[in-house]
Amino acid sequence: MNASFASRMNGLQASAIREILKFTADPEVISFAAGNPAPEAFPVDAVSELTAKILKDQPITALQYGVTEGYAPLRELLKSDLKTRHGLGESFDDLIITSGAQQAIELSCKVFCNPGDTLLCENPSFIGSLNSFRSYEVNLCGVPVESDGINIDALEEAMRQNPNAKLLYVIPNFQNPSGVTMSLEKRKAVYALCVKYGVMILEDNPYGELRFAGEEVPSIKSLDTEGIVLYVGSFSKVLSPGLRVGYLLAPSEVIQKVVVCKQGSDVHSAMLSQMICHSFMNDTDFIGHLASLRAIYRHKSSLMIDGLRQYLNPAITFDEPEGGLFLWCKLPDGVDMSAFCLNAVKNKVAVVPGSAFMPRDTDKTQCFRLNYSTPTDEQLKKGVKILGELSHSLL
Ligand SMILES: Cc1ncc(COP(=O)(O)O)c(C=O)c1O
Repeated sequence: MNASFASRMNGLQASAIREILKFTADPEVISFAAGNPAPEAFPVDAVSELTAKILKDQPITALQYGVTEGYAPLRELLKSDLKTRHGLGESFDDLIITSGAQQAIELSCKVFCNPGDTLLCENPSFIGSLNSFRSYEVNLCGVPVESDGINIDALEEAMRQNPNAKLLYVIPNFQNPSGVTMSLEKRKAVYALCVKYGVMILEDNPYGELRFAGEEVPSIKSLDTEGIVLYVGSFSKVLSPGLRVGYLLAPSEVIQKVVVCKQGSDVHSAMLSQMICHSFMNDTDFIGHLASLRAIYRHKSSLMIDGLRQYLNPAITFDEPEGGLFLWCKLPDGVDMSAFCLNAVKNKVAVVPGSAFMPRDTDKTQCFRLNYSTPTDEQLKKGVKILGELSHSLL
């Protein structure tokens, strides 16, 4: 083929996770590499019943075109739920339903960033968002994440050095990939710095409802008196990623721009999916369902953590997550991280090399990511043991 691709494709590579997932086609490989909800977390019967009811009672609404902003009853329900349960949303805010959090993140970058603008993010950060940002040819600048969230001094330094920074992208709860939760002090400091330097905040919170330990920390959006925070949520980790329903709560002027972009992207998110999400929140015991998810992930995370404490070479360190789906392990300096991950998959355990989550090619890491939501209990126990044996033989 002779076609020349757009320059925006230059920074994009096939996801390292997808490359690793190819190995997981082998049924003998235990995958700690995915990020999917646990199979037992899907309320299949409830979804099947309420889908049948929607198609019986409101078939044309479900199958007809809808408005770009989203299914009105779902928008209203989300606005009131975010306000009452999490203190989110001011009179200047509005909410649009998107096709997953991923689309909210992509469109936020699209409406704010020109090629060459700096987009600040955590280092490491979620690969799907990083790739969206790369497609807008922004200058990605990663700021290190510590056990209690982003390094505030490094963030201010990055803001000083990049006066063209438009957006700061953060995942304050149970960050993907590090599992880390940002402290309230740091959330306040991040907000104050963004006000000072005129940077908008893109706060991504797909895992917030999956807290299985510790106390809820108010989100940055709840501090937003100035109208600088774009808050992204999703049904992917609390109901189903296959439905592709997420949302963006942000100042109305931002939402208006996002609506125009979404019209040109996919017109609106699937009506049936939106109606299922609405009915699931409104007509079933949604809060009880969230509690059952937390119990599932509390159990699975403990299985992995207990196994790691028992078998892993203590030279490999990790922080215990308080929620979410991931655990981030750090190999000692001098150990070849990529070789360790390759050896793991050769021994039939797939993990994701931390390099996949680096904002820039030149950023280095000694870490790899483990996921505990997708494997069965048996796989968790067996896989952790294999990793442990490997860690003793390689270090
Ligand atoms: C931090 C983060 N943001 C966004 C997404 C995308 O979620 P969605 O399925 O809602 O598009 C994911 C998915 O894993 C994620 O981990």
